[in-house]
Amino acid sequence: MTDEVKRHNTRKSVWMVIRNEVYDVTSFVDEHPGGEDPMLDAAGQDATIAFEDIGHSEDAKAMLKKYKIGSLAPGEGCCKMRAKLWRSSSSSRLKYALLALGVAVLLGIAYKKYASS
Ligand code: HEM
Repeated sequence: MTDEVKRHNTRKSVWMVIRNEVYDVTSFVDEHPGGEDPMLDAAGQDATIAFEDIGHSEDAKAMLKKYKIGSLAPGEGCCKMRAKLWRSSSSSRLKYALLALGVAVLLGIAYKKYASS
């Protein structure tokens, strides 16, 4: 990540990186529905994981556009972070698949009981 982003880490100027894009969210810190603390914690850093972990809505993702001031060169953001992100999203997909399977099995058992009584 660039030193330039790291320098914007105070209330006066808040920049952060999300998925390799750089955002100047200084004017949004006060308006952030999640409060200013998480924004200030992420100031000057790659906030990809923090942003994604909260499960921000599509509206929140769309808002990002307004604050974009640039992009990092490919690979300049932290690749470990992206790999971790990807792992966590694919494992949550697996969790949903297993949950759906579990529900289907339970429904099958319930139906069999109902049909045989
Ligand atoms: C810089 C870009 C960001 C934008 C545009 C943004 C936008 C929003 C919006 C619109 C919401 C309301 C809920 C929703 O629509 O999802 C929200 C909630 C929240 N955000 Fe952000 N956010 C940003 C960064 C962050 C970061 C870096 C964190 C760090 C953890 C964070 C933590 C939270 C929390 C904790 C909530 C409250 C969630 C809840 O009450 O359930 N946000 N944000």
